[in-house]
Amino acid sequence: MPLAVQQVRRMRGGAQSHLMRCEDGGYYVVKFQNNPQGARILANELLGTRLAARMGLPTPAAAVVEVRENLIEHTDDLVIQLGRGRTRCRAGLQFGSRYPGSPADTVVYDFLPDEQLREVVNLADFCGMLVFDKWTCNTNGRQAVFFRARAESRYQAWMIDQGFCFNAVEWNFPDAPLRGLYARHRVYESARGLQAFEPWLARIEGKMTEAVFDEVYKEIPGEWYGFETEALERMLEQLLRRRKLVRELIVSAWKSSAQPFFNWK
Ligand SMILES: Nc1ncnc2c1ncn2[C@@H]1O[C@H](COP(=O)(O)OP(=O)(O)OP(=O)(O)O)[C@@H](O)[C@H]1O
Ligand SMILES: [Mg+2]
Repeated sequence: MPLAVQQVRRMRGGAQSHLMRCEDGGYYVVKFQNNPQGARILANELLGTRLAARMGLPTPAAAVVEVRENLIEHTDDLVIQLGRGRTRCRAGLQFGSRYPGSPADTVVYDFLPDEQLREVVNLADFCGMLVFDKWTCNTNGRQAVFFRARAESRYQAWMIDQGFCFNAVEWNFPDAPLRGLYARHRVYESARGLQAFEPWLARIEGKMTEAVFDEVYKEIPGEWYGFETEALERMLEQLLRRRKLVRELIVSAWKSSAQPFFNWK
């Protein structure tokens, strides 16, 4: 388990995460247990990122990162801003999403203009990620980061922020046609029919078994879900049952007025 040794900077976003350097030399974007979106989003991040990676989708490596009291005490910036005041980040086990390389060498972008999006090496993975987001009922739009590995001329996308999968802290699945889509529909240009999604649907049905769930489940620190084991188990059971729903959810996104799959006639 990586141990945080230094806070580098604050990141944008509702969970008020921090970029941190760890003892293993890696950099992680860390979300704290007492973030304003709720502790359960840490469980969602770990579970979601692990499952997406098992499906073969490009995600950062995810880890449980330890942040000790001592570091928090000595870092003025390790606070959560609340409506009126602020509170210290809580020490203990946090969620970490691995930064690609080191921040000194690798620039990471949240958005790319459409012309550059077309040149992303793994653009078709957005179709796979939509299958994942429909399955897990991600109630936020899809988010990704883009970066170029050293000496590479083309961008690569990593899928980040699985915090609102399973409807954030609600752990239910209020499906709706436009949920989970990426804001720039250009990323779906390779979708000319349901066949663009079929390999991913097959992976959910074939690979996302109860055994995989059991493995991932064991990794989630109990503090992240208030030790409410039953609630977590109920959510996971629903997730298993939903595997056969996903094809239909993709079709309803296609039929929606937004027409996200502009090449699927
Ligand atoms: N693995 C990563 N590598 C590099 N940058 C990352 C990584 N994970 C997150 N980030 C950056 O940190 C920011 C915040 O991350 P994230 O979106 O997960 O948090 P959030 O608080 O839920 O944000 P929001 O409220 O905007 O959705 C992202 O916009 C992105 O720039
Ligand atoms: Mg986000």
